Amino acid sequence: MTTFWSTWICVLTIGSLIGLTWLLIGTRKGETKGSVDQTMGHSFDGIEEYDNPLPQWWFMLFAGTLVFAVGYLILYPGLGNWKGILPGYQDGWTQTKEWEREMAKADAKFGPIFAKFAAMPIEEVAKDPQALKMGGRLFASNCSVCHGSDAKGAYGFPNLTGKVWRWGGEPETIKTTIMGGRHAMMPAWGEVIGEQGVSDVASFVLTGLGGRKLPEDAKADPVAGQKIFAANCVACHGPEGKGTPAMGAPNLTHPEALIYGSSFAQLQQTIRYGRQGQMPAQAQLQGNDKVHLLAAYVYSLSHSAPAERLQAESTTE
Ligand code: HEC
Ligand code: HEC
Repeated sequence: MTTFWSTWICVLTIGSLIGLTWLLIGTRKGETKGSVDQTMGHSFDGIEEYDNPLPQWWFMLFAGTLVFAVGYLILYPGLGNWKGILPGYQDGWTQTKEWEREMAKADAKFGPIFAKFAAMPIEEVAKDPQALKMGGRLFASNCSVCHGSDAKGAYGFPNLTGKVWRWGGEPETIKTTIMGGRHAMMPAWGEVIGEQGVSDVASFVLTGLGGRKLPEDAKADPVAGQKIFAANCVACHGPEGKGTPAMGAPNLTHPEALIYGSSFAQLQQTIRYGRQGQMPAQAQLQGNDKVHLLAAYVYSLSHSAPAERLQAESTTE
């Protein structure tokens, strides 16, 4: 801030404080001690205005706010370029610095616990009730917005409690997914194979891979669809449609695990326009040690015995 604006703010602020103090003391001077029920001589429809002193509590409260304001302006940066003299904050207090301090304190307290778990294999961490409790908290505050508080996913967001993985369910793979995030690329096929092609291949995914029935009125040929699949889709989804985790191309033989829906219409939609699911990277936000705990928690959702899980969940509250 330039000296001009700094001075301008100081003059306004200090001026206001002095003005308010003067107003408070100035109006008090006129008090007539001990005399009550003296009126101002005004009358409004028979209601008269009394000239009583300010209530003591009100006066003290006002004086208190003035003292508070002065104290605040000395300690915190409020007056132009004045940085304040709050102990422990060289160069002035800011919210960011206060937050960083709290984080540093928390790191000092929890850092060793995180570090202890970070040094253990994820499968081991996934058996530790304390680790699962911490992982569950991290999940609730960072992941449940998308994956749901029960981690069972929603439209466009995968279920993390099942056996079918898009990117792989090995402990280290889960960690890689969380650390670096993932960006899935399902191309749009509408222009390439045409509207009939979309219907045909969707009908093959529905019946041939998903083992379900085609709607009565569907004008689609699963046999033609199979050929389209062999020509265009196996490169990513594999010859049997079981997926390629390395590129996040999902297994299409588990209709319940499809995040964009498994009805005939939804499959057509996905194939016609393509999809680009994005899992945001957590390395910067959480750091290695927290992601390690998160990976263990996610891994536990599909691996630990129900009894262990229940115990960990009941203590997440
Ligand atoms: C370049 C690789 C690639 C090719 C080729 C490809 N896909 Fe995909 N497909 C993907 C990826 C990656 C996803 C996951 C998209 C996401 O998660 O957002 C996907 C998702 C899908 C889904 C939705 C899955 C869900 O969870 O809802 C369907 C259905 C599908 N593909 C069918 C097909 C069909 C049919 C073809 C051939 C016409 C095809 N794909 C060709 C990579 C590919
Ligand atoms: C902004 C929404 C969002 C948030 C927040 C989010 N995710 Fe995801 N996550 C996704 C999407 C979308 C995918 C699927 C990407 C794709 O299409 O392949 C995904 C995929 C995953 C996968 C891979 C699943 C598989 O089948 O391979 C894991 C594991 C995962 N997320 C864990 C987490 C964890 C742990 C957190 C919290 C730190 C988290 N996610 C936060 C959106 C989110």
